Amino acid sequence: MKSKASAPGKIILFGEHFVVYGTNSILCAIDRRTTVVAETVPEKLISIHSELGNDADPPDMDFDRISAPHRPLYYLARRLADQHGHDGGISLHVSSEIPIGVGLGSSSACCVAAAAAISGLFEEPNRGRTLQLAMDAEKTIHEKSSGADCTASVHGGLVRYSKRDHSRIRSSADLKLTVANSGTEHSTADMVRGVSEFREQNHDRFIDICSEAEDLIRDALHMIRRNNLQGLGRCMSMNQRLLREIGASTEELDSMTGIADRTSLGSKMTGAGGGGCIVALNAVSAEHTLDSLVAEGYECFHTEIDFKGLDTF
Ligand code: PMV
Repeated sequence: MKSKASAPGKIILFGEHFVVYGTNSILCAIDRRTTVVAETVPEKLISIHSELGNDADPPDMDFDRISAPHRPLYYLARRLADQHGHDGGISLHVSSEIPIGVGLGSSSACCVAAAAAISGLFEEPNRGRTLQLAMDAEKTIHEKSSGADCTASVHGGLVRYSKRDHSRIRSSADLKLTVANSGTEHSTADMVRGVSEFREQNHDRFIDICSEAEDLIRDALHMIRRNNLQGLGRCMSMNQRLLREIGASTEELDSMTGIADRTSLGSKMTGAGGGGCIVALNAVSAEHTLDSLVAEGYECFHTEIDFKGLDTF
């Protein structure tokens, strides 16, 4: 039995880190995907093949001994095999167009695609169950995961997300987004831990920053619905200042947003920070922004919003 699913990466337009502490956030799924092919096999092994390596482990293996990047996939295969009384093994093949570890949702897209592909071996996958499984799997990487990334990947489009609820944002806004990659990989878990330390040391200020982030997101939602791109760009740059204050940005990301701001409506880091990518919003053409970041040696690309989300085959 074989089953296949694919899921998009994402950009966080507003609210990364603050969303972990209960604020809203705005994300969009992007036109780069991860595909997972799952297969039941007779030998009792969970084998995982991806660009990060090849592993084959028995299903009763001690969790800590599973290679860290493959842990969420191992978790999903084991949980779903147990749940459906599957006595054999499961093999997973992962292929991805999403750069790894730079804030574009490679790991959440992988969790979503794997949850749906493995479920598809036993039943018709459904979006609600897939999202819950993917969110649980992400928690094997970083336990405070807000679930925002997986939600955008499952549903596609523009999404408002908080830990309480989420909804698709209906908008006719044509968001011309340019992504530039600093080339420095980050660990989301380490960055979330760093922000937690900042919060402990700056308790009152952190409450104020979260409330500023929440106001900004309310304004940004208004701008998106009214197609006010100038206003939206300004909100992005304001969000970048808050991320800098909590220590999520770096000198390099600040310098990249500085370059992007000369020719765009606004820009910010996206994802956990400490490296990774920035995203810039342009009005008509994004060529100048792209050229100026490429001239500084950064990998850079335009991205379209993916409206499909999770796809199963
Ligand atoms: O893993 P990244 O770089 O996509 O960042 C995740 C976003 C955070 O808000 C920092 C963490 C979370 O769980 O929402």
